[in-house]
Order: sequence, then C-alpha cells, then structure tokens
Amino acid sequence: MNLAVQLAPAHPRGLLLQNPVMTASGTFGYGTEYAGFVDTQRLGAIVCKGTTLKPREGNPQPRVKETPAGLLNAIGLQNIGVEALIQEKAPLWASWQVPVIVNIAGESVDDYAKLASKLDGVAGVSGIEVNIGCPNVKAGGMEFGKDPKAAATVTKAVKAATSLPVIVKLTPNVTDIVEIALAVSEAGADAVCLINTLRGMAIDTDTRKPSLGNICGGLSGPAIKPIALYMVYEVAGQVKIPIVGCGGISSAEDALEFIMAGASAIEVGTAQFVNPRALLDVLEGIERFMQKEGVNELSEIIGAARH
Ligand SMILES: Cc1cc2nc3c(=O)[nH]c(=O)nc-3n(C[C@H](O)[C@H](O)[C@H](O)COP(=O)(O)O)c2cc1C
Repeated sequence: MNLAVQLAPAHPRGLLLQNPVMTASGTFGYGTEYAGFVDTQRLGAIVCKGTTLKPREGNPQPRVKETPAGLLNAIGLQNIGVEALIQEKAPLWASWQVPVIVNIAGESVDDYAKLASKLDGVAGVSGIEVNIGCPNVKAGGMEFGKDPKAAATVTKAVKAATSLPVIVKLTPNVTDIVEIALAVSEAGADAVCLINTLRGMAIDTDTRKPSLGNICGGLSGPAIKPIALYMVYEVAGQVKIPIVGCGGISSAEDALEFIMAGASAIEVGTAQFVNPRALLDVLEGIERFMQKEGVNELSEIIGAARH
C-alpha cells in the first residue's frame, strides 16, 4: 500500500509526506512534548505551534473552555519566537525523518515576509504553514484571512521571501471560503489548509462574566467537523492545489471523509487532548480501510465522494 502524498507538486523541491496524517498547529507543541505517547517519526508531518517574530506570552487566563463536543481556546499565540525556534528546535528536527512545517503568524504583511525569510534554508524546516485566521489575537491574524486581496498579498509576500513550500491556512470565519482559497491559490500557494477554529464564546453564569479571559475564542473539535468537511468539499471543487483538511477529526473514519471530500492530507488537533494516541489511531485506521477495500494508492480515494 502506498500512503505517500505530495503536498507541493508544483514546487521544485516538493513536500513529500510518507502518509497523510499531520498534527494541527498548536496542539502538538514542537513535536517533542508528545514523544512519550506517539512515535512521531511515523507521522506524515508535524506542524508546530504558531510562531511569531518575537516571543509572545499569550492571552490572560482562562484560555480554554470545554463545550459540548468541542473546545474553545484563546491561547493568543503564546510561543518562543522565531529566533529561539531556529536555535533550539530546528537542530533537533534536522535529525528527524518526519518533515516539520513551521506555522507562522504576523501582525503585518512585512512580519509574514520576515518570518518566511528567516526560516528559508534552516535545516530541519521542510515547509511553512501561513496562519491567516487566528481568531484570538488583537492585531493581524484573521484580518488577512477575511479578505481575498489581503490573503493574496500575504501569500505573495511569503512566497517571494522563501524557497520553502508554502501552505496557506484559511479561516472559516468568512462568508465565502472558496473565494479566499482561489485568491491564495492564484497568488502562488503550494497548498491550502482548512479550517482554523470558528469564533465563539461561553459565559460563566456564577461570575456573570465571559468564561475566557479574552472573551471570545476559537471553537475546535467534533462540533466543527461537518462545517470543515463541507468547506473542504466546496474548495476541492474549485482549486487545483492540494488541500489539507482539518477540523474535528478524531478517527480514521473522520479522516477518510475529508480525503473523500478532496483533501490530500489531514491534520488532527483537539482529538489528541482526549486520546493522546489519536494520530496513530487515525493512521492505522486508514491503513486498515485501504487493506480491507483493496486500495493500493491513497490517491485512488482522494475526492472519491466527488465523482
Ligand atoms: C489549543 C489550540 C491552539 C491552537 N493554536 C493554533 C496556532 O497556533 N496556529 C494555527 O494555525 N492554528 C491553531 N489552532 C487551530 C488548530 O490547528 C486547528 O485548525 C483547529 O483546532 C481545528 O482542528 P481540530 O478540531 O482537530 O482541533 C489551535 C487549536 C487549539 C485547540
């Protein structure tokens, strides 16, 4: 069976994954934290925590709140900053077989370009995932993901600043995600990832105050799966570049739905907080499905639900 996926077919170096199972940014740290639970080298790719030019402390507590079938988070991009990432994390990644993709976030187009240029040529970094849809930060973030022109401008700036393959991660907090996907694809993105979290909130009736320090947060987990799946299905009908599906994937069945909707690869996030082995359960379940159904190449089932 061949589970390999080429996520950047138009890129000179490409971004070849041994299988389609990736980690969702912000739920797997820098790939080292889960070492005791998951054989990380079996994964398709690791996407690290959102990285900014300067280290960030993140938002005031509380930052997470469980909801029925989901999780609200407002971490606010707490991270060590790109310089520390390059000094402390990348050298370790360089010795790994699994490709590591760095998720970046900026407050301006220039920030995104600077981040991309700093990461260019760093051993251990195989690609960039551009977050243009963080709902939990005051400056930047979702601003770029909501407008097709701004999304295209960020994409072009990042592509011009790096020779690494570039995945642009889209926000679902828009009227028409297809329009944004088309804009970033035309601007040169090698792949798109969808979706980031949906904006939401919760109120603590004892304190009569919002449950999250940031008031609003991003909803993830099984609650958002049907929304994410439909967005992947819609976008897959319009763009030619590979799609990474993300949002509420907890099982191989979920992952297969995204693949059949048109995703070439998938990311697992919140499910890991419930089941630290979720990534490998998803991978092994996909393998079992392919074996049972006599599917030799993953590509045979990508977009199967569309034909
Ligand atoms: C605690 C937490 C932190 C996150 N941090 C980031 C981040 O730094 N950058 C980013 O692009 N997405 C971030 N996300 C969004 C996830 O990568 C993913 O798009 C979203 O959670 C939907 O997938 P899921 O339902 O499998 O979790 C975060 C999500 C959670 C739950």
